[in-house]
Amino acid sequence: MLIKVLGASAGGGFPQWNCNGSMSASARTGHPGFAPRTQSSLAVCADGRRWVLLNCSPDLRQQLAATPALWPDPMGSLRNSPIKAVIVTNADVDHIIGLINLREGTPFTIYGSDRVLKTIQANSVFNVCNPELVPRIELPLDQPVVLEDHGEDLGLTVEAFAVPGKIALFLEDTAGGKSFGSRDGDTIGLKVTETVSGRFFYYVPGCAEVDPPLANRLKGAPLLFFDGTLYTDDEMIRQGLLNKTGARMGHISISGSNGSIAAFKDLDVARKIYVHINNSNPVLDDHSPERKVAEKAGWEVGFDGMEIMI
Ligand code: MLT
Ligand code: MN
Repeated sequence: MLIKVLGASAGGGFPQWNCNGSMSASARTGHPGFAPRTQSSLAVCADGRRWVLLNCSPDLRQQLAATPALWPDPMGSLRNSPIKAVIVTNADVDHIIGLINLREGTPFTIYGSDRVLKTIQANSVFNVCNPELVPRIELPLDQPVVLEDHGEDLGLTVEAFAVPGKIALFLEDTAGGKSFGSRDGDTIGLKVTETVSGRFFYYVPGCAEVDPPLANRLKGAPLLFFDGTLYTDDEMIRQGLLNKTGARMGHISISGSNGSIAAFKDLDVARKIYVHINNSNPVLDDHSPERKVAEKAGWEVGFDGMEIMI
């Protein structure tokens, strides 16, 4: 199974279009050690031919241009694509908007939780992916599902599970309450298994907290892509970028006693890679002390074009 990181940054990308903070400014001007990154998406393939996107970012067009494996087969029909399915893990803008780029009448299949599919259904612009050609299939929680596209087995089995998280920003119920209307299935993680070999990895790009059920699930995993949005809960406030903490946005931080470095310290995950990294996060600077701390704790910082074969 081949896994490609199409985009390793969080919503807004790195640099973000309107951000003049020092991190984005350094990335924009090509400062060494500040490699730009597009918004959050992975691609996975079991057979070297047919690909599944894990989240579909607003930067998909740029990601496709950078990834020949996702181009149409030059020997194929006039309209063709190796992208056979898309799985969305929440309804955040950075994870669903790329679907709009996949219009033009080529069939594929969209998978997501009931909660996320309902959001897509409620926004009629997503009908540019005509449901008759592009079926939407609900992923039940905690049940392995063999991925198919129009009856073709894609060689991958996926199990979705609810993770602590939050409803998409644009769906927040502002009437009050701490959860903003969030429910199970608003944010899911995925266990992706190559059906034939049984090799697997986990993908959890959005996560508010590593609670005991999640820790038990991920314990001993061979490979994990995990929410690396912020290094410190209040970094966006301190950098003067946005008056919100990571906790308010439904994202665990990397550092601190409740952070992901601490949470995974004893979970024996063989390979741990941060993705969905916000442009404020100092781990995006190759030479920062925070990057060294994360690496010393056994974490890798994802980058666009990263490839892993398992
Ligand atoms: C998030 O990950 O919290 C969202 O992508 C934020 C956003 O929609 O801007
Ligand atoms: Mn996001």
